[in-house]
Amino acid sequence: MDIESVGIAGCGLMGSGIAEVAAKAGFDVLVREVDEGLIEAGRRRIEKSLGKAVEKEKLSAEDRDAALERISFTTELEDLAGCDLVVEAIVESLEAKNELFEVLDGVCGEKTIFATNTSSLTVTDMAAATSRPDRFVGLHFFNPVPVMKLVEVVRTIATSRETFDRAYAFAQAVGKVPIAAKDSSGFVVNLLLVPYMLDAIRQLEHGVATVEDIDTGMTLGCGYPMGPFALSDFVGIDTLYRISEIMYEEYREERYAPPPLLKRIVAMGRYGRKSGKGFYDWSGEKPVALPL
Ligand code: 3HC
Repeated sequence: MDIESVGIAGCGLMGSGIAEVAAKAGFDVLVREVDEGLIEAGRRRIEKSLGKAVEKEKLSAEDRDAALERISFTTELEDLAGCDLVVEAIVESLEAKNELFEVLDGVCGEKTIFATNTSSLTVTDMAAATSRPDRFVGLHFFNPVPVMKLVEVVRTIATSRETFDRAYAFAQAVGKVPIAAKDSSGFVVNLLLVPYMLDAIRQLEHGVATVEDIDTGMTLGCGYPMGPFALSDFVGIDTLYRISEIMYEEYREERYAPPPLLKRIVAMGRYGRKSGKGFYDWSGEKPVALPL
């Protein structure tokens, strides 16, 4: 595989995780964030996660230090020009993503592959706006990136075989198990997972059971590591809402439509674990379900 240097656009939850796994696997990683404050937050997130990996005996202290040394940061998008692969992990907005890819398309070399970590937009809508739709794929990682083994490698009707193979090999090289998916909003996993999470909210709206009991039902009844509400808080309630709107827009099917309760929780700024409150209050030692 001829990918050596990887550019990551965006160092939030997903971007920092992708930077971390790529650096651990030996790639040179250049991360771009819009300002120094976000770079610092991203760097701290990576350091914390690598520290946890050492604590859990998944990584040696030497390998942690070597991984950190392989990651550099910049605020200039143009600095990603020399990367063999650029993975975009910014906000889930087609407009913002296309603006970013337009700049990258102008500065990156002919051979650079573009990948998006979008969870619900179509890769085609981004690829078609560049001059390199044949060198454009989806690389959809899962949260928390250092722990979840899966990557969906998404091909559009224009993605070349070579590009797909290189992206697939990259996913394997960072220690993940790739699966191939066509460019259909939600790909494989979110197409199944999102309606399930939305159905749990509808179940709550219908008063079938409490937040805790629905979560207990799915953890103890089906062996899921988290119930749908703990998972919604983990993914981010605002993110779930946005994904659901995008998928509903795409398919016009009711099962993807955001339930009104989801909208209300977002309006209250309860975005889940990242804001301290969602379906649960996460401020104490144990999460406590909030009245809704
Ligand atoms: N680096 C490397 N390994 C780490 C790590 C790190 N920073 N942190 C933890 N680990 C390892 C641990 O050593 C442990 O490994 P082991 O099983 O071999 O012992 C394993 O990861 C689990 O870690 P913990 O024991 O600390 O944590 P929990 O057992 O509490 O599990 C969880 C936490 C992995 C988040 C689990 O609750 C889970 O799998 N939840 C579901 C997550 C999920 O569904 N994610 C997908 C969301 S959807 C998505 O991302 C798509 C998007 O588009 C919306």
